[in-house]
Amino acid sequence: MTDEKLSDEPQGKTDLKGEPILEALREVLAEARELDGGEVASYIPQLSSADPSQVGLALVGVYGRTFEAGDSRVPFTIQSVSKPFVYALALEKLGIESVMERVGVEPSGEPFNAISLDADSGRPMNPMINAGAIVVASLVSDDEILEGLGAFAGHPLEVDDAVLQSELETGHRNRALAHLALAAGVLGSTVDEATERYFRQCSLIVTALDVATMAATLANAGRNPLTDEQVVSETVARWTCAVMASCGMYDASGDWLARVGLPAKSGVGGGIVAVDPGVFGVGTFSAPLDAQGNSVRGRAMLTSLSRSYGLHAFAHPTVKFQPPE
Ligand code: DON
Repeated sequence: MTDEKLSDEPQGKTDLKGEPILEALREVLAEARELDGGEVASYIPQLSSADPSQVGLALVGVYGRTFEAGDSRVPFTIQSVSKPFVYALALEKLGIESVMERVGVEPSGEPFNAISLDADSGRPMNPMINAGAIVVASLVSDDEILEGLGAFAGHPLEVDDAVLQSELETGHRNRALAHLALAAGVLGSTVDEATERYFRQCSLIVTALDVATMAATLANAGRNPLTDEQVVSETVARWTCAVMASCGMYDASGDWLARVGLPAKSGVGGGIVAVDPGVFGVGTFSAPLDAQGNSVRGRAMLTSLSRSYGLHAFAHPTVKFQPPE
């Protein structure tokens, strides 16, 4: 990991209305810490041991500046936050239209583990829900995922073996989704290969700073701003952000886009990433989840940052960097 010296001096477009960024992040985090709603995920036994009091926030600008508050370096498993990044790797490898033949880009409006397949083609509706993510995992290799997600994060990532074991023991619904994809002719590997690869990608260990760097790579047209590696093309980064915007927060995606207005992706490990294209990536971590499986404090921190600093993608450019009334 690039050991950037932390600074609260705003720079270029990451200047959030002239306020020192670090101070803004600390304030937003302190407010979120007071929230005590939500439940730590327990459907995978190993996840239930997460400390519900930890809260982390990190922001990585496209010029490579990093800003962190709270538990920004506490490890957690990436879970579904991996989905847009593995999708981006598959798009880069096979091309957009070839992946589109197997997985769509329509919001499902359903929970992450829904049996959500297009009625005519049998394709999963989108790559941000499990059905689509399992098909995407069938199109790339274990090594491509490990190396590619490490390139997004800026350093090699490791698997949490206990979480992986837990996923393997309990993931029957995911195996069922893989069987349906196989029946529809859209799975690129065997059911066991696709599901094990998907479980392994979900079990990768990251921090809020790692996922902020991954998001910043998408924000920076596919180039990691800390390592300068071009991980995916600008076209793939843009496409991935668009799919995150419409599908990244499961059955809360429409509400999220209207309220927060940033492409984002959540995971049951408590992580959320959000992207402000051309500006920065943000990563949050806090384990308690709301009914849709999104981190309660992560959602609050990103909502607050977007409102306070006018980050909504559909705000008129003249108000984009002004706090709302
Ligand atoms: O059961 C699964 O598919 C998980 N390992 C990953 C799901 C996840 O993070 C869904 N998200 N909010």
